[in-house]
Amino acid sequence: MELYEAIRCAPTTRHFGAEPVPRAAVIRALDAARFAPSGGNRQPWRVIVVEDQETRRSLRDLYQPHWRTYMEATGGAAALADPSLAADRRLRALRAADQFAAALDRIPLHLVVWAELSSIAIVDRGLDRPSIVGGASIYPFVQNLLLGLRAEGLGAALTTLLAPAEAAVKELLGVPDGLALAAYVLVGQRADPWPQRLWRRPLAEVAFAERYGAPLGPDG
Ligand SMILES: Cc1cc2nc3c(=O)[nH]c(=O)nc-3n(C[C@H](O)[C@H](O)[C@H](O)COP(=O)(O)O)c2cc1C
Repeated sequence: MELYEAIRCAPTTRHFGAEPVPRAAVIRALDAARFAPSGGNRQPWRVIVVEDQETRRSLRDLYQPHWRTYMEATGGAAALADPSLAADRRLRALRAADQFAAALDRIPLHLVVWAELSSIAIVDRGLDRPSIVGGASIYPFVQNLLLGLRAEGLGAALTTLLAPAEAAVKELLGVPDGLALAAYVLVGQRADPWPQRLWRRPLAEVAFAERYGAPLGPDG
């Protein structure tokens, strides 16, 4: 798949077929993902590939309460329950995410991505705001992985709502101290057609020349 096409069209898949995911495809995507950059080239990523049905069910049960809390806190649950909004197109993704949360265990392959904390330099730790740089040595790997899976023709969804259940997930998967849960990626055959394009903000809203807010023209 052409690189720009993959970057522009790697959607979040929330409806999956039940077919097993070829192990060779996952290995190829993981093998390519590990060429991601990381601070000091410390490569803190570790991944557990889960296919076992019982373990997938346990992971679903750990994810769901945090999804529900998120839905309550953001007003999503109320919006989905409001009959006057039933036809609202904007709720389509939310409804899909809700159904996805309920059926997580039926998605054939789960990837639990961990970050080895001793290999991460959180250089914005001292600032009076939440750290952003803390995840910067792990998410390039995760994005590479999503692109690799897309290139394999597989659907994938990146989620983070398993992180609040980190202690229980560690126990379930035998993860030692010193690792933090960074991402939970669900993988399978995509049940819906691939979208032609994703909705993203126009470039002019996010990229500037020389000063914040200044338009970025075609030439320097
Ligand atoms: C950090 C992060 C956390 C996310 N967590 C969840 C999640 O818990 N559940 C979910 O269904 N989607 C999750 N998503 C997927 C986003 O909802 C999705 O990327 C966004 O809506 C854009 O969708 P699209 O790529 O299909 O256009 C997450 C994405 C990111 C980057």
